[in-house]
Amino acid sequence: MRVIITKDYDEMSVWAANYVAKRIIDFNPTEEHPFVLGCPTGSSPLGLYQHLVELNKRGIVSFRNVVTFNMDEYVGLDVKHPESYHSFMWTNFFGHIDIKPENVHILDGNAPDLMAECEHYEQMIAEAGGVDLFMGGVGPDGHIAFNEPGSSLSSRTRIKTLTTNTIQANCRFFDNDVNLVPKQALTVGVGTVMDAREVLILCNGPKKARAMHHMIETGVNHMWTSSMLQMHRRALVVCDEEACDELKISTYQYFKDKQRIEGSIEEYINLYK
Ligand code: GLP
Repeated sequence: MRVIITKDYDEMSVWAANYVAKRIIDFNPTEEHPFVLGCPTGSSPLGLYQHLVELNKRGIVSFRNVVTFNMDEYVGLDVKHPESYHSFMWTNFFGHIDIKPENVHILDGNAPDLMAECEHYEQMIAEAGGVDLFMGGVGPDGHIAFNEPGSSLSSRTRIKTLTTNTIQANCRFFDNDVNLVPKQALTVGVGTVMDAREVLILCNGPKKARAMHHMIETGVNHMWTSSMLQMHRRALVVCDEEACDELKISTYQYFKDKQRIEGSIEEYINLYK
């Protein structure tokens, strides 16, 4: 697992956006062979999306031949609700870039048959040739997408009931009223994320420090579902200093030494200046 420790949220966002843009550019996607990008929601990726929009507007990266699959969506929330993940994605990202609407895939949390919707989603990912790069965040309890503690580490897209912890964490988007937060969601599984050819996780702020510790320093454990990324051949965690508060000094120092020697911070921060 690669861990990139940036100084703050802004640096994390620029680093990750430039990294993703370079991946897409180097792939040289065409209509016949598009780049398949997995997309998260939440506050963590907002800055990354803003920078990708900027790079798109400057003509540096195009999304014309990019196909996307979102990680999750609430069950029973109208797609037009401002906090639906459909709204989030169009408001914060898709609505500002040159992506073709038909290339965007987001689970339908209002589908008449939710299980069939999940199976169809997996099928569409497979038909697209799999995900080239799955971007993601983590919940304070270390969940990835909506794979709550105790989720199978080989799970596929399905319905999940949200934990009280997640409902409380997400109630800030629903007038701070836990009763307004949907109690279930459709989510890609841990196994679905693991199948991606590369995974990039954003982890920032002191509230994520415990999750960061379990994701990278303790063993693979279904109570911290993002820890499964330790088994991925190409997992990259881009975090900020505050998210490192619970790491061992030796772990922290190693990743800092590594990025100093490899010059990996400057390499991506300065890429499209
Ligand atoms: C939700 C989403 C996750 C996201 C997490 C963290 O639970 N399903 O995909 O990673 O929130 O959100 P934030 O980035 O706002 O902290």
